[in-house]
Amino acid sequence: MKRFASKAALVTGAAAGIGKATATRLAAEGADLYLADINREGVEALAAELAKEHGVKAFAGSFDAADAESCKQLVAAAAEALGRLDLVCNIAGIQKWDHFAQITDDTWNRLVAINLNSVFFISREAMPLLEQTRGNIINVASVAGLTGIAYNAAYCASKAGVIGLTRSVAVEYASRGVRCNAIAPGGVKAGQAANPIPEDVDFGLITPLSPKTGDMCEPEEIAAAVAYLGSEEARFVTGSVFTIDGGQLAS
Ligand SMILES: NC(=O)c1ccc[n+]([C@@H]2O[C@H](COP(=O)([O-])OP(=O)(O)OC[C@H]3O[C@@H](n4cnc5c(N)ncnc54)[C@H](O)[C@@H]3O)[C@@H](O)[C@H]2O)c1
Repeated sequence: MKRFASKAALVTGAAAGIGKATATRLAAEGADLYLADINREGVEALAAELAKEHGVKAFAGSFDAADAESCKQLVAAAAEALGRLDLVCNIAGIQKWDHFAQITDDTWNRLVAINLNSVFFISREAMPLLEQTRGNIINVASVAGLTGIAYNAAYCASKAGVIGLTRSVAVEYASRGVRCNAIAPGGVKAGQAANPIPEDVDFGLITPLSPKTGDMCEPEEIAAAVAYLGSEEARFVTGSVFTIDGGQLAS
């Protein structure tokens, strides 16, 4: 399938995990890409590899999702390099386990800045370009944005914010031809899933949230959903929050 032939996509968090898998899937389906990450070497290497393997244009740039100016400059750089923007995939994100009372101001502000504020800045800057192409935005949220998780308040709040932003943008832009959707993964075999949990937590509060299958999915399984939502096949899908969690939230 080449659902993204002659389309151009910006992918954040593209140096690793879900972002890297998404960039790889979009390139395989013909998309020209701008790959962005704080890890410059990672995106430069991936861009070179994807351009060679799939014959697409692939640019790379570093940015810091914690910095508003950097987010705004990223969109300008991507637009200049690609000449158009059909798809924005907001995937860069971080997570940290903490007892609620021990979450520092810095941790709170950093999680909200990277996970939520960057999605706002990038999406707002990209919107005029997406209106031109009748494009769309896909935000990688989390099941953590749909339920409470002990020792995860800052992350849950940031991802719930992403879901609220997604739905609001979808409603506001539906008649203007721009779609906006979120994906809410459960456990994914990617960087974030390996984050350490403090030893003195009550694990009984966390384990019921594990996927019912007792498994985690591959980043490529999230990328497949991004490719669907980003394509014309999902023409009528906007404002949705697509859980991919092995049934975690179903009961
Ligand atoms: N892995 C999971 O189980 C899981 C579950 C639900 C949601 N998610 C979400 O999926 C997204 C990707 O997660 P992942 O597990 O693939 O993570 P990952 O750590 O493998 O990749 C995250 C990427 O984001 C980049 N990044 C981090 N901070 C950045 C910053 N300040 N500026 C720019 N780039 C930055 C990293 O360099 C990295 O390349 C995140 O938004 C995460 O919250 C992950």
